Amino acid sequence: MFIFKVFWVIYLLTLQVFLANSYRAKSLVPALYVFGDSSVDAGNNNNLNTIAKVNTFPYGIDFNNCSTGRFSNGKTFADIIALKLGLPMPPAYLGVSTTERYQIVSGINYASGSCGILNTTRNGECLSLDKQIEYFTSTVTNDLPRNFRRKAKLSHYLSKSIFLLSIGSNDYILNYFKQEMETNQKGNPEEFADYLLEQLGSKITKIYDLGGRKFVIGSIGPIGCAPSFINRTSSSKDCNEDMNQKVKPFSNKLPWKLQELQTQLSGSIFTISDNLKMFKKIKNSPEQFGFTNIWDSCVGQDAKPCENRKQYLFYDFGHSTEATNEICANNCFSGRDACFPLNIEQLVRAH
Ligand SMILES: *[C@@H]1O[C@H](CO)[C@@H](O)[C@H](O)[C@H]1NC(C)=O
Ligand SMILES: *[C@@H]1O[C@H](CO)[C@@H](O)[C@H](O)[C@H]1NC(C)=O
Ligand SMILES: *[C@@H]1O[C@H](CO)[C@@H](O)[C@H](O)[C@H]1NC(C)=O
Repeated sequence: MFIFKVFWVIYLLTLQVFLANSYRAKSLVPALYVFGDSSVDAGNNNNLNTIAKVNTFPYGIDFNNCSTGRFSNGKTFADIIALKLGLPMPPAYLGVSTTERYQIVSGINYASGSCGILNTTRNGECLSLDKQIEYFTSTVTNDLPRNFRRKAKLSHYLSKSIFLLSIGSNDYILNYFKQEMETNQKGNPEEFADYLLEQLGSKITKIYDLGGRKFVIGSIGPIGCAPSFINRTSSSKDCNEDMNQKVKPFSNKLPWKLQELQTQLSGSIFTISDNLKMFKKIKNSPEQFGFTNIWDSCVGQDAKPCENRKQYLFYDFGHSTEATNEICANNCFSGRDACFPLNIEQLVRAH
């Protein structure tokens, strides 16, 4: 009986390893780890004390009509990238019980709506990038070692995995612009961008030190083109260029910052998801992408979503529809516009 029991334990352990490996065999990379804000939050904020929480209708109407806490009608950019890599959508870290976390080897999502690169960026409770990395540290030091007995195996797994960061908009919306309004001081956008990039760089370095090598970093999109900020006159609608110009130094300098990091951090490799470029492309010929409305929120005042959600760029005041996320993710994965210098297929193959 005792032998039988031991045999079962061994059998189950082997089966678990076999299942974990067989999943990995079908995927292009072992895991996708996600850090960021509401653009990629998969439900972390459901567990926090904040108004930046969307686990209610009409969010998720195209996610089996299930309000998971994603700030969209359906899947986020990160979800779609995961599926294209052959991985499950990374679950929200705070949505998985502490006793089950170690079982997840295909990636976890630490992103949290209303947070940013800076600790001081927030609107209620959220997970700052520092906090997200603190949780990832726990994943690497407490959870993953239970699946990788040998350190070299864990290092190899992390070096082949992809780390996606989509963060920074709130450092402008909830921090820089707010300060500007409240103190009526004209800060210097160049200096603020430098400061943000320096902070982002040190946080990326932490992920590198924990084992991350392959990074996809989202640039900050044209914030002034979101429905809450656009310039509406009786006859026309256009982006708030004043806002866009202030954010631009960040996106302009990001490639140089990442190049610097790539030189400093041996074996690291970076690619940028260029949200500004994609928006411009769509704005130039929306119909080519199936859009009839690129200015308004699909969800109206009465919280009723529009019927033709595939024709809207924005789902709410500031977040894109699944249709937009699909276009950006497909292009970033195998196209030539959204992500540079590498698309994700190329990032997967790089060393
Ligand atoms: C989706 O869920 C909401 C709220 O639970 C419900 O009112 C609505 O009828 C559902 N829609 C569909 C298409 O099932
Ligand atoms: C932000 O908070 C973390 C702790 O959550 C701390 O370790 C870090 O030093 C803080 N960063 C700054 C810039 O204050
Ligand atoms: C808003 O539109 C008006 C009229 O086209 C223009 O003069 C103004 O500069 C715009 N404001 C911003 C912030 O883009």
